[in-house]
Amino acid sequence: MKPRIVVLASGSGSNFQSIINSINASFIDAKIVRLIASRDGIGAIDRAIKADIPFKVINKKHFDTSERFESSLLQELVDAQPDLIVLAGYLVQVPVQVIKTFEGKIINIHPSLLPAYGGKGFYGSNVHTAVIQDRQKESGCTVHVVTEEYDKGPILAQSRVPVFEDDTPESLAARVLAKEHEVLPQTIKQLLNQ
Ligand code: GRF
Repeated sequence: MKPRIVVLASGSGSNFQSIINSINASFIDAKIVRLIASRDGIGAIDRAIKADIPFKVINKKHFDTSERFESSLLQELVDAQPDLIVLAGYLVQVPVQVIKTFEGKIINIHPSLLPAYGGKGFYGSNVHTAVIQDRQKESGCTVHVVTEEYDKGPILAQSRVPVFEDDTPESLAARVLAKEHEVLPQTIKQLLNQ
């Protein structure tokens, strides 16, 4: 049986796509059994439809309590029986109960060289803006295990890029994202012992 992967996403889903492509190219031998989207209308859903991957929207705002959101997300994940859960641009904090249930099986890709530019407020272009403001010479991305401490779980892989003097958050984000698309599938392959 192929290892079962569940992907959680909130955005365009280009990292999700990099996993789909790696499976299609037989670089990774696995099956993406489900996409869980944090809201309707995101690019990741279009990619799931195109790739014939079942998806479900679990939007925290649609629940009247966070407990109900948590149990819905947990139930969906338990039903999917994943060997690996990949947060690929998932902008919602994963509930502790989910992290405990799938301890060591949840990984995240973050667009900085953690522990730098991690934690509260460091997501999306905020990260790249801060890196440029601080005149860093180097940035990159990190794949790490998700633990209860936000952005602080064990680091599995990092990839570096230069920061140029004329970089904008957008140009830096694009350079980092290209690395994310390499390092995330590579890390998944390693984790699946392939
Ligand atoms: C990536 O930079 C990822 O590191 C961050 O959000 C972005 C998502 O991009 N967490 P995409 O949705 O995979 O295109």
